[in-house]
Amino acid sequence: MPKITIGRDEKDREQYGAEKATALIGKNIVGERGEAHLANPVRMDIARPHVVGVFGKRGEGKSYTLGVMAEELLKAEEEVSNNISTIIIDSMGIYWSMKFPNEDDAVLLSDWDEQPEAIDLDLCIPKGHAEKFRDREIPFDKTFTLKPSDLSAADWAMAFDMELNSPRGILLERVLRELEGEYGIEEIIQQIRGAEDFEEDVKKGLINRFQAAEDWGILSKHGTDLEEFTERGGLKVLDVSMFQGIRGTWSVRSLVVGLLAKKLLQKRLASKRLEEIQETEGKLTSESPIVWMIIDEAHQFLPNDHKTPASDSLLSWVKIGREPGVSLVMATQQPYKLHPDALSQCDTIISHRLTAKKDIEALKNIMQTYMKYDLSTYIDNLPRKKGAAICLDDNSERVYSVRIRPRLSWHAGGTPTALKQGRT
Ligand SMILES: Nc1ncnc2c1ncn2[C@@H]1O[C@H](COP(=O)(O)OP(=O)(O)OP(=O)(O)O)[C@@H](O)[C@H]1O
Ligand SMILES: [Mg+2]
Repeated sequence: MPKITIGRDEKDREQYGAEKATALIGKNIVGERGEAHLANPVRMDIARPHVVGVFGKRGEGKSYTLGVMAEELLKAEEEVSNNISTIIIDSMGIYWSMKFPNEDDAVLLSDWDEQPEAIDLDLCIPKGHAEKFRDREIPFDKTFTLKPSDLSAADWAMAFDMELNSPRGILLERVLRELEGEYGIEEIIQQIRGAEDFEEDVKKGLINRFQAAEDWGILSKHGTDLEEFTERGGLKVLDVSMFQGIRGTWSVRSLVVGLLAKKLLQKRLASKRLEEIQETEGKLTSESPIVWMIIDEAHQFLPNDHKTPASDSLLSWVKIGREPGVSLVMATQQPYKLHPDALSQCDTIISHRLTAKKDIEALKNIMQTYMKYDLSTYIDNLPRKKGAAICLDDNSERVYSVRIRPRLSWHAGGTPTALKQGRT
């Protein structure tokens, strides 16, 4: 049986074979619909950085598949996992459940020679929300904050849904230009108060916005050290599911993602330089782990029709991430809503069932060249089972039907705060 390793080029296949440094994501589906059965394992390369798209309509298994990938990154052989740090951006507040074994699917797992297993992860929440989590008895491991001084005028303007060339925007740019070093919201407000040449109501309007930003619970003068988010062989789940009901919910989430992505890329770029020097000296250690960032509902952070505070950073990841070694996995129900550059940079696509014409068209445009049949034919032929998907592999220019493997850890799915009613 030929071994399937998507995302691995010929050269690496010769060097590493088909199994070393791979993630076992599922099994190849052979035959169509009713006749379909599972054949050989489908693995995905994790030796190199990748841009992966996970698509499919509602409830078909996208978030579940992201969890499978995270499990695999953690469970890879030590020399590989030790050089990887995985971060899930959890917009729905569902990945805390990975801390518990998937007892519900114990039988299914045994068919795959696997057993339910709890995953060791750190659930990180915005500091200002810790109390609410405690009140609701939802356990978390770490809190985080962002430094206001790390945010640009454009970031604030996007989060505040405000034009930079409006009087408030002009005041904002001036104030940030004047402030130096690390500063918090308080210092920004003071600076606004002291600004000359601006109408009182302009100042008041901007101060109101910053006061409201204080309630997001994510800002503090000194911010969280980046090291907290990257841990060799570790999984951090950043819960950004809160902020609902506040003005610009997704903008605030995007601020978190944008800043984190920017910093992590900078860090990897700096490490890469050091690693190159060390390599010439015969040392082969990595300065900082390669980061895999897994983003659910990715079209909200990197949409095709407007810019968010995360757009620039995420576009840098997909465009230049290969060199410094950062990988991005983006899941969305609607691939056509994802920024076209992000879509076209995907080297691996795992697509569960899709029915909307626009979404199928978007995928066709980037991968159709090497498909034997029309994309819709591949999708239609998938068995109607959760977790069935087609894999499009840019490296081998092949398409595979795959059943994603069952999860070892529990998938809370659409039950965000099930902990109280569910298991403890
Ligand atoms: N590979 C799989 N094996 C077995 N069951 C699966 C698999 N994938 C998904 N499921 C089942 O399908 C349900 C829905 O999956 P999931 O929550 O991942 O959907 P989704 O595509 O993320 O949906 P939404 O668009 O609403 O976020 C899961 O709770 C699980 O029960
Ligand atoms: Mg989902």
